[in-house]
Amino acid sequence: MRIGAIQRHAGMIDVQGVGKQYGNGTYAVKDVNLHIDSGEFLAIVGPSGCGKSTLLRMIAGFESITEGQILVETRPVSGPGPDRGVVFQDYGLFPWLTVEENIAYGPKEAGYPRSQVKELVDKYIDLVGLKLFAKKFPHELSGGMQQRVAIARVLANTPSVMLMDEPFGALDALTREQLQNQLSYIQKDLGITVVFVTHSIEEAVYLADRVVVMGDGAASGVAGNIKKIETISLDGPRDTTSVEFNRYRRDISELIHGKTAKGAASE
Ligand SMILES: Nc1ncnc2c1ncn2[C@@H]1O[C@H](COP(=O)(O)OP(=O)(O)OP(=O)(O)O)[C@@H](O)[C@H]1O
Ligand SMILES: [Mg+2]
Repeated sequence: MRIGAIQRHAGMIDVQGVGKQYGNGTYAVKDVNLHIDSGEFLAIVGPSGCGKSTLLRMIAGFESITEGQILVETRPVSGPGPDRGVVFQDYGLFPWLTVEENIAYGPKEAGYPRSQVKELVDKYIDLVGLKLFAKKFPHELSGGMQQRVAIARVLANTPSVMLMDEPFGALDALTREQLQNQLSYIQKDLGITVVFVTHSIEEAVYLADRVVVMGDGAASGVAGNIKKIETISLDGPRDTTSVEFNRYRRDISELIHGKTAKGAASE
């Protein structure tokens, strides 16, 4: 079943010579050039403070761009927009609304008629597997379920881009794996563009078509920039124990941490 297929070229992102300088003169990121294709799953990894969140927030339109520009399709980003949905590590749900009310919030605000709001809620609640929990409140759900609601809530706005900043960072390993697989399925099914920031190299190699490796960052006194873009040429579902998978993992780890001992490509 193809749900809500989106237009060709929708969700294409062009980051052109982008920099972010703060008032105190430090650059969080500088000279970032990146083309993200429509329907691509792009992961961003790099050490703490290298500017991953800053870059994501600039694409989201939450953070001003001090150099260069970012185009989504052909429109320069000048603020948040319904074409870009954002999912953070903390689920950011409205605690006083039920699961279905949380998901309905965006479409309602956008002025959709009631029947269409219901249609969107039904579709996305089903897609994330929470039909039975429609009437529950966020505090009645596990962390993994709350993050699924957060994802459904973003998808109900039918964005062409979903921006995710360490969305699974707070979850236990098993729940994290389940959500990774669910996200991978949803992303392919909807043909949506995903930009996914993570600390986990394994997660990036497991999910992404390409992995952007960022380096330095204001934390080390240098502006964050792109060190390498690695294309992951593995068919899905990916075998995390395969030699090829671990070669990618090790290569990226070495780029971030420097040379590691054989087999010690930790994150
Ligand atoms: N308001 C600010 N003023 C000055 N510097 C800032 C400001 N906000 C962030 N920075 C700096 O910009 C750099 C990039 O921050 P950012 O949050 O994008 O890093 P990150 O790669 O997401 O790190 P982490 O992996 O820890 O989340 C950091 O060194 C940070 O100290
Ligand atoms: Mg961050």
